[in-house]
Amino acid sequence: MANRKIVALPGDGIGSIVLEQAIRVLTASGFDAEYIYGDIGWEFWCKEGDPLPDRTIDLIEEHKIALFGAITSKPKDEAASELHTSLQNKGLIYSSPIVGLRQHFNLDICMRPCRTYKGNPLNFIRRNNEGSFDEPYVDVAIFRQNTEGLYSGVEWSNPPSIVYKALMTHPKFIKNFGSVPVDELSVSTRIFSKKATERIVRAAFDHAREYGYKSVTVCEKPNVIRETSGMMLKLAKDIQKNEYQDIQLWNTNIDAQMMWLTKNPEDYGVIVAGNMFGDIVSDAFAGLIGGLGFACSAQFSADGIGVFEPTHGSAPKYADYETPIVNPVAMIESASMMLDFIGEKDKSAKIRKAVAMVIEEGKVRTYDMMKMPGKPDVIKKGAASTIQMTDEIISKL
Ligand code: NAI
Ligand code: MG
Repeated sequence: MANRKIVALPGDGIGSIVLEQAIRVLTASGFDAEYIYGDIGWEFWCKEGDPLPDRTIDLIEEHKIALFGAITSKPKDEAASELHTSLQNKGLIYSSPIVGLRQHFNLDICMRPCRTYKGNPLNFIRRNNEGSFDEPYVDVAIFRQNTEGLYSGVEWSNPPSIVYKALMTHPKFIKNFGSVPVDELSVSTRIFSKKATERIVRAAFDHAREYGYKSVTVCEKPNVIRETSGMMLKLAKDIQKNEYQDIQLWNTNIDAQMMWLTKNPEDYGVIVAGNMFGDIVSDAFAGLIGGLGFACSAQFSADGIGVFEPTHGSAPKYADYETPIVNPVAMIESASMMLDFIGEKDKSAKIRKAVAMVIEEGKVRTYDMMKMPGKPDVIKKGAASTIQMTDEIISKL
């Protein structure tokens, strides 16, 4: 009997494809676990009207650690139209199950490392003064607040009168929107709490200290979004001054950061941001190290629940290929973050080394690494399938 149980949540599209490969790698690394499969995603929305059934919540509650593939999300009206006929017109409203999971378990810390793989043909290069090219070494860890801000779901179209009245107490609202009919207004709030903001900032500094990064950058927009971004920056300044004087605190605006990260990405270490800006800045850095096929993430709560998933989504257009072609590395690296979280660091190091070796050798590469359009013929043209790529990683363990 395996001594550990891991909840496996394949989800939709390529989610189940890459999750299966990650489990093969975990097993080959010597990690002994039983995987308990849970239901999540579009199928359960359509059939049951709930993309995150209670039985799945119970499984995670019981076993604490989950590996998650990806889900498909669609806008409200489209989602409603795809419900099983028996569930239509019952007032069911779709919301993303992964966002639901983060909020239910308060998985408020999201960590997304982006590190250059030696030999990856997708690495970012930059023209230097001599006219030749540099390949800056990127080693950034993004800490994204994962439960609040613009993704918390506190929003209205045609807001109820109590909300409208409250908004009408704000001089800027009166000035800019006071004459707009209420049924023509849509409002999405950006709420930060002090406790959660402190937690993400502190997690960023702790990580910097533990892994020897020289700086933590708050990447927000405090000059304009004065209250929420402003609070994060102020807390970061206090925390740095009182607890982390050995680490520098930098402050960038999200828009400027998007430009700077192609100028001097090697200068950044740990980056901390709210939910949406963290989402944006982590995809942007992922682009420098090979794109979504390489971008992994971990999210965890204060009480030890962890869910590990690739940053990418369900990529539905690649889901039904007879031979899967998508890159399994993002999911495999997410699984190795899970091993770190549960203290199996020797096995995670082994997996990371195997992935790095395969990429550096360059003999086996998925279509994205060969810069091919993701058509079914990529295998004929010499790209590795998802399974071949995984086999090669396993062979290096
Ligand atoms: P996506 O991440 O699924 O795919 C975007 C593009 O990235 C793909 O077309 C492909 O070119 C590339 N890509 C993604 N994963 C790859 C891999 N493993 N190997 C190689 N290339 C890869 O994002 P998209 O198309 O915006 O969304 C598709 C669906 O996924 C939507 O329904 C969306 O809501 C959902 N989604 C779910 C997420 C989650 O489950 N956490 C996160 C992001 C999107
Ligand atoms: Mg994203």
